[in-house]
Amino acid sequence: MATIALTGATGFIGRVLLKHLTAQDFQVKALYRPGSSSLPPKTINSVEWVAGNLEDADSLRTLVTNVDVIVHCAGAVRGATLEQFKKINVEGVERLLQVAVEQGVPRLLLISSLAAREPSLSAYALSKKLGEDVLLGYDGKISWNILRPPAVYGLGDREMLPLLKLIRRGIVPVVGSKGGRFSLLYVDDLAEAVACLLRPDIISDGQCFELHDGHPNGYTWAQIAAIATQLNGKPAHCFSLPRGLISIVGRINMAIASLSSYQPMMTPGKVREIFHPDWVSDNAAITQAIGWQPEILFSDGMRRLFY
Ligand SMILES: NC(=O)c1ccc[n+]([C@@H]2O[C@H](COP(=O)([O-])OP(=O)(O)OC[C@H]3O[C@@H](n4cnc5c(N)ncnc54)[C@H](OP(=O)(O)O)[C@@H]3O)[C@@H](O)[C@H]2O)c1
Repeated sequence: MATIALTGATGFIGRVLLKHLTAQDFQVKALYRPGSSSLPPKTINSVEWVAGNLEDADSLRTLVTNVDVIVHCAGAVRGATLEQFKKINVEGVERLLQVAVEQGVPRLLLISSLAAREPSLSAYALSKKLGEDVLLGYDGKISWNILRPPAVYGLGDREMLPLLKLIRRGIVPVVGSKGGRFSLLYVDDLAEAVACLLRPDIISDGQCFELHDGHPNGYTWAQIAAIATQLNGKPAHCFSLPRGLISIVGRINMAIASLSSYQPMMTPGKVREIFHPDWVSDNAAITQAIGWQPEILFSDGMRRLFY
């Protein structure tokens, strides 16, 4: 079985990836940051943990030595400035690629984001696009794939959980434009897509793939409410959150961040992201290339989490 270097293994998506990859008998070397609030999960004994940081080339060299593939899942999802995002989502990719090429690692999978499709909306989106561009600059030196997941949710997620808990109670806050459409993805389906890409018989190099949960053309908030109604057995109701109100939260967060080390999620850029009307992704390319099919629609994901 291939040996994989995994970054971001202490985060929401990375923890699930780690579980899936070790369950499929991949050998995994995983990066963790000493001193970080999230410690490496102790439950998985077969993982070789490497202490380090995307800002430290030596630790990355240790991580990628003698591996067949790098799955680069670490990333900054919170922050106030482009500089903060770039340090991890762009310069981190560059540093990892430098040591990967130096050590002769043949392949790297980058977990990017659907946000990279709209880099003008936010510092986060731009940083994810610039991270992809760094990887494209290494074309010919290393085999690569980029995955662009939409909003990912599932066990262990903290960002979407409050929203999902409200939906569970029949309250559907319309976080975004009323007619907006968005795709979703359960984290286990994403992990399975990564595992599929790592199969030795799969040849998919040099492609960037969008993914979604199998619900065609994404969801509207009204469809989310209809699913909640069905699951709860009583009517769920949509409540619009005025853009002005969310923008005020974004501006207050920026003010706090400018005075402290606080790394906010809701910023004016994030507000522009969530009010963007089209976050629908397309599964066709990845399904055609590697045969991956998602299994967990939003209704199934909600059942797994709450029912
Ligand atoms: N969640 C989503 O809905 C979603 C959607 C699309 C794409 N993505 C992408 O998926 C990836 C993972 O997201 P997530 O939701 O799992 O985020 P997360 O829970 O915040 O995890 C981020 C991971 O990156 C690590 N990390 C951050 N800065 C680092 C650094 N300087 N050096 C080494 N490791 C560092 C974190 O380490 P610590 O644990 O030590 O902090 C953590 O393991 C990100 O690249 C994100 O852009 C997420």
